[in-house]
Amino acid sequence: MTPPLIVAIDGPSGAGKSTAARALAARLGVPYIDTGAMYRAVGLAARERGLRLPISDPEPAADVAQSVTVELIATSGGDRVLLDGRDVTELIREPEISLYASAVSAIPAVRRRLVSEQQRLGRARGGVLEGRDIGTRVFPETPHKFFLTAPPEVRASRRASELALRGTPQPYPEVLAEMEKRDSDDSSREDSPLTLDGRYVVIDTQALTPQGVVAEMERRVLRPGG
Ligand code: DC
Repeated sequence: MTPPLIVAIDGPSGAGKSTAARALAARLGVPYIDTGAMYRAVGLAARERGLRLPISDPEPAADVAQSVTVELIATSGGDRVLLDGRDVTELIREPEISLYASAVSAIPAVRRRLVSEQQRLGRARGGVLEGRDIGTRVFPETPHKFFLTAPPEVRASRRASELALRGTPQPYPEVLAEMEKRDSDDSSREDSPLTLDGRYVVIDTQALTPQGVVAEMERRVLRPGG
């Protein structure tokens, strides 16, 4: 039996991963799996259970990750994220929850729980998985690994426009500062930091349209022998 098709898309926030991953998954006919949304949902649950930043004791956050159910659901109206059955799709995008997501994602027990869930999902039906450690930790054996990136200023201005569109504007300097903090936290944590190996195809999305990014990835995934 042919193993399910797994495409890993890693890179820092604001690099255009979500748009590209969602479109690529639709073109390839496999599920889109937003692993960042899973860390965000656990971050939100931690916040709602009264944990405060910085998280100095990993145990309560690990307990939260063990006890919640996070589901990614594809609906005709778009992808939804459920936390214990409750739709938290919009809530997990709040800037404060980004900081909680980054904090809980540094805790090894939280990562173990979510990585095994991501592996289960990918093995069941294949998928385009978007995150920070998909090609290094979740599915290191996949031959299809992409690292999407762009300069911090470009990523911050994209994120600022996104937040404004969503009706939750935030000044650009704040967005840039928070993004640089998350970049540095995500890249310097001990467990599965954002990194890449020589088997990744690096795509700088600064000068490309979203369609251009998807076309480039699709071409490489489908090429004979690829
Ligand atoms: O991609 P995102 O901004 O939604 O991710 C939210 C946070 O979760 C981000 O700080 C990095 C972390 N994350 C992670 O550590 N590993 C993943 N596979 C996905 C996200």
